[in-house]
Amino acid sequence: MASGSGEVSGEALDHELAELLDVETFDPPAEFRERALLNDPAVYEQAARDPQAWWAKQAKELHWFKEWTEVLNDDDPPFYKWFTGGTLNVSYNCLDRHVLAGRGDRVAFHWRGEEGQERDITYAELLAEVQRFANALKDLGVGRGDVVGIYLPMIPEVVISMLACARIGAPHNVVFGGFSAEAVRERMEFSEAKLLITTDGAARKGKTAPIKDRVDDVTGDLATLEKIVVVRSKGTPCQMKEGRDVFYDEIVAAAHPDCPAEPLDSEHPLYILYTSGSTAKPKGILHTTGGYLTGVAATHRYVFDLKPDSDVYWCAADVGWVTGHSYIVYGPLCNGATSVMWEGAPDYPHKGIWWELIERYGVTILYCAPTAIRACMKWGADWPNKHDLSSLRVLGTVGEPINPKAWLWYHKVIGSERCPIVDTWWQTETGAIMITPLPGITATKPGSATHPFPGVFAEVLDESTGEPVTEGQGLLVLTRPCPSMLRTLYKEPERFLQTYFSRFGKDTYLVGDAARRDSDGYLWVIGRIDDVVNVSGHRLSTAEVESAIVAHPDVAEAAVIGEHDEDSGQAIVAFVTLQGDLVGDDQTIEGIRATVADRIGKFARPKRIIWSDDLPKTRSGKIMRRLLRDIAEGRALGDVTTLRDPAVTAQLEERVKELQAQED
Ligand code: WTA
Repeated sequence: MASGSGEVSGEALDHELAELLDVETFDPPAEFRERALLNDPAVYEQAARDPQAWWAKQAKELHWFKEWTEVLNDDDPPFYKWFTGGTLNVSYNCLDRHVLAGRGDRVAFHWRGEEGQERDITYAELLAEVQRFANALKDLGVGRGDVVGIYLPMIPEVVISMLACARIGAPHNVVFGGFSAEAVRERMEFSEAKLLITTDGAARKGKTAPIKDRVDDVTGDLATLEKIVVVRSKGTPCQMKEGRDVFYDEIVAAAHPDCPAEPLDSEHPLYILYTSGSTAKPKGILHTTGGYLTGVAATHRYVFDLKPDSDVYWCAADVGWVTGHSYIVYGPLCNGATSVMWEGAPDYPHKGIWWELIERYGVTILYCAPTAIRACMKWGADWPNKHDLSSLRVLGTVGEPINPKAWLWYHKVIGSERCPIVDTWWQTETGAIMITPLPGITATKPGSATHPFPGVFAEVLDESTGEPVTEGQGLLVLTRPCPSMLRTLYKEPERFLQTYFSRFGKDTYLVGDAARRDSDGYLWVIGRIDDVVNVSGHRLSTAEVESAIVAHPDVAEAAVIGEHDEDSGQAIVAFVTLQGDLVGDDQTIEGIRATVADRIGKFARPKRIIWSDDLPKTRSGKIMRRLLRDIAEGRALGDVTTLRDPAVTAQLEERVKELQAQED
């Protein structure tokens, strides 16, 4: 059956989009506004008048074993502490609380496997499994404060593992399944993980990738890693090292069923999540307990207007990114939501699988990345039009700026013009959504994340004067502490200060994005100002990719930039100088791409490689990336006289033109 959007054909859509683009703002539909949890704009003023009282009110929605004595401790900025003196447990809030209130039979996840397998997991079942696994972890010697690595695909055990860690106060360090084993090793080493939870194999569009064996290849030399727990998921054969490796099902079966949640200090570390920064070494973002949970639960409730008794929520991200941590696991479970969890890709077994799942489970709230929306747009409206999407009522996006055309397609084809769109801006560092419309209040503009969430304070600062910009472009900053923010970079407090608080002082968090404020005060996030690239919503540092490329034996030097890409937002372009007089060919390109896949992951492979005899450098030897970006995108270069060898750029421009001619 076709939904209301069924009439929209490809060509008609383009025409209508062109007309729609003239419309400036989209008001929340009256009916939606009437029933919304938040529909009075006064909430912004209330929160602004007394942000601490606002956040304390949100924190009171959680279960605390002991209430805090102080909402915010700001004795040592920017090392803030929230809800000090309070104790709580995240897994208790996500599980026990709902079961004790008689909601144990509610489905927490409708899990769906790639091949159509289905598993509904209720809150009561999740609690039982988490308790057993928490005990099993304790039996293996994991205690409060020990770091546990998790390298798992989108299977229920990834959620169970995270909650089991939270239950016993062992901070987890999840590594996205798309990262290579080498990247896992590095993250385990940096965080000194004591135990790693992984799987035999993972489903990848109908094939199975061996996981445990790849992990084994690289983790052998890690002194701190005492145990590896293997989830038997796909039946892929794998080596088990005597005394170190154990199977998940066996230790869970042997574990005691009761494991009371430990009361933990509000500032107890909940997790570390490595993310890319300006240098090759990823940053270990540290999130703690009380403030983080307060932030994710409040934003999840209000940004998506969550009605846990009737909504079916689906965040189509991977649990290995912060979006998955906050909006697949902690926010939704804390709020007692019923979610969909999908193991696979958006185009397997067919390009309409998302819409099939929405119809199948009656999804009411969908949260995904603009890059996925652009892919669906490309595949055509016929795919969604085959399904009844009338259950949907709120649509969200995250991870990168959404271009107005994709926004309008989402609005019209998926939302039938009935669903407010929440374009949510935030980061691994902020833990929770920071800039977003509220679906029952905010008039939206396609491409703008609109305004800070109540209790969040953002400004756009002029790049040269540091003064707030009332209209125009500048650097995005957050000007007040917020409970869900990172507390530090794990084991690197100096780098934390240097990265975020050296530019405008200790009171002003430098986001790393450029933004524009329009004449109505709306915020438009433009993109990164540092050497971070955003490929399909995956965050990568150019330095990280460069260091992977130079690991290839033929490579002498490399410079990586992000260039605009219609599908993935940005794509990686690498300028590569080979050793001696080696000449690069297709085989070298494949070799370099394979090296990057091994060191980081397939998603980091350069889309284009441009051979260069030399790179444009300043007299002091610094690579001028700005020039490389101009060269790659075919822009005029302007003054190049400050370069050590101005002739280099002309040669590269020539190469780019040749490549383009070949592509055409
Ligand atoms: C970008 C993902 C524009 C931004 C939750 C940010 C966005 C980086 C948006 C963080 C948005 C995220 N509009 N840009 N709605 N959401 N970004 O840490 O550049 O993986 O700094 O967290 O993604 O990426 P991260």
